Amino acid sequence: MVNNMIDIHTHILPALDDGSSNVEESIKMLGMLSNQGVGTVVATPHFYIDEMEPESFLKLRDESVTKLKEALKDDLSRPQIALGAEFQFYSELYSLDCIEDFCISGTNYILVEMPFTPWTKYTYQALEYLYTSRNIVPIIAHLERYLECQNDAETIFKLKEAHALIQISSDYFLNKSTKRKAINLFKKDAVQFIASDAHDTTIRPPIVSNAVDIVRKKLGDRGMEVLMFWEEKLLDNIITF
Ligand SMILES: [Fe+2]
Repeated sequence: MVNNMIDIHTHILPALDDGSSNVEESIKMLGMLSNQGVGTVVATPHFYIDEMEPESFLKLRDESVTKLKEALKDDLSRPQIALGAEFQFYSELYSLDCIEDFCISGTNYILVEMPFTPWTKYTYQALEYLYTSRNIVPIIAHLERYLECQNDAETIFKLKEAHALIQISSDYFLNKSTKRKAINLFKKDAVQFIASDAHDTTIRPPIVSNAVDIVRKKLGDRGMEVLMFWEEKLLDNIITF
């Protein structure tokens, strides 16, 4: 088991989105991650700009965090928690004044949920602007879910050109029907992060270590070096509570 892993994509904040429904469930999810050697968990609640003002979302996120902090105050074994969001892509993302508040706290990395329709050159351009005009690095959430409507090689190439990083969900490694595809993506140097995208304790539970074990077994030191390189980069500056 690797200690001090980071899970960069979770819906562990209580009663905020379609993830954890209450504080008790959040604490159970954190415990499950801790048992797998996860030392840092990034809370990434969904944010849809066409449904809510950014300021309203940030206020709701703070309220949810306050409740969780209160319930966790005596828990010394829990993972550290950083704040972020799973920001639904929109083409003006780079021009949003408060975009930094949606980055993983203390860093210039933002988790972006992309459209589930074919992407155009303007899609990649918007990601690139985020980097060139705001110095913010987009991390593409669960790339595997968009590949049904994109060409793998072209997508990976264009994302790299746009300075984007890629997160794959542990499920993709653990599911027998997709495991080979996940390993191939890794071999193509297309994966920087593996995350749980956990929503609850049962249907979409927080599982990370089993997927990391597959990387270790199938890709050896080289695979682990890639994961640890990017984890350490994030952990260098991350702010947690
Ligand atoms: Fe998610």
